[in-house]
Amino acid sequence: MATIRCDVLVIGAGAAGLMCALTAGQRGRIVHVIDHANKVGKKILMSGGGRCNFTNTGTTAANFISANPHFCKSALARYSPADFIEMVERHRIAYHEKELGQLFCDVSSKQIVKMLVDECQQAGVQIRTHCAVESIERGADGFRVQTAHGLFHAASLVVATGGLSIPSLGASGFGYELARRFGHQVLPTRAGLVPLTLSGTHQQRLAELSGVALPVEARCNGHRFSNFMLLTHRGVSGPAILQISSFWQPGDRLELDLLPQLDAQDWLRQMKRERPAAELRTVLAEVLPKRLSQRLCEHWLPDTPVRQLDEPQLRQAAQLLAAFPLVASGTEGYRTAEVTLGGVDTAEVSSSTMESKRVPGLHFIGEVLDVTGWLGGYNFQWAWASGHAAGQAV
Ligand code: FDA
Repeated sequence: MATIRCDVLVIGAGAAGLMCALTAGQRGRIVHVIDHANKVGKKILMSGGGRCNFTNTGTTAANFISANPHFCKSALARYSPADFIEMVERHRIAYHEKELGQLFCDVSSKQIVKMLVDECQQAGVQIRTHCAVESIERGADGFRVQTAHGLFHAASLVVATGGLSIPSLGASGFGYELARRFGHQVLPTRAGLVPLTLSGTHQQRLAELSGVALPVEARCNGHRFSNFMLLTHRGVSGPAILQISSFWQPGDRLELDLLPQLDAQDWLRQMKRERPAAELRTVLAEVLPKRLSQRLCEHWLPDTPVRQLDEPQLRQAAQLLAAFPLVASGTEGYRTAEVTLGGVDTAEVSSSTMESKRVPGLHFIGEVLDVTGWLGGYNFQWAWASGHAAGQAV
């Protein structure tokens, strides 16, 4: 097979890789994108329940977790949610805001993949799927990448292989291995935006409530998120839990305010005054799902009429409702995680071009880097912004 010569070879036809490719292609670069999966943008297709939460209008650096919280600022400032929205509107993709600045397609995430592929095609970018990398060598005149589709010779190599979450969607540790091979530090990785599992008495007591959902404030290590929590047969999930999971590690204390809209102590005192004969489980069932209030009164709270709560008991009950100590045993891991925390250390990567400070011409973009967004469209915004930054530079 003849050698394929190009200016830019992008490994990974996901969110960041496609954005980088179309940006570089529009600048007149000869760009090839290769992916080992059978189709492009598999995570985009799966995302947002099939409607892709493609950005968040309130994106700031504060919505990202990284050993260097400043690293993402430059790229995010140069490619904003408004820039991506402009492209979405140009392609006449209808969208709506769900909550908290989260933008979703009205119809399907397939439209986002089609938009990116169309933009790539217009810019002359060649995309190949089923194309695994066999070896990579760097010479004086660029990178030689042997693949299932032949030998590529490129001046710039962009690593856009994402994180480890959901291996069935094409995720691999390839980008981390490649980074290490070129002398880069890879910070420890772990699953983020992931359901938490319970064990022991919490699991036994709560497993039967699988399917129950309620608004909570989840707190851990100084971080707090208010949103819904869902009890599952293995533990807890839902947006509040996915958010806090990125800040939780085994052994850390995790607290849930089960009545985030109320001051639990004031509310219990009011119930004691106004409805002294009512059972605690009955009044609780008016502000919490009934099955949960029953379970709380069977195992954690006094199962009595409210008038029988003396002041210390009332304060204790309020404390439990406002800061329920959930004992998580672990996470569901990469099998269901939306993202991978950690990754290629940003200390050795330029924040304006995503180029390696060790190996000229080598770029890292998207989730493979140690930059992880909160739930809510931030991870795609990082993929677009970092892809754009590299696409402008290569
Ligand atoms: P991405 O994973 O998109 O792409 C990496 C590409 O590299 C893949 O195509 C893969 O096949 C390829 N690849 C891997 N190894 C390779 C190898 N060895 N050789 C060749 N190719 C290789 N975010 C958000 O903002 N809003 C949302 O709604 C969602 N929803 C969501 C749902 C689910 C189920 C998941 C798993 C994740 C999300 N996310 C999300 C997160 C978001 O999908 C993720 O952060 C971005 O896709 C990351 O973009 P990248 O381009 O870095 O990786």
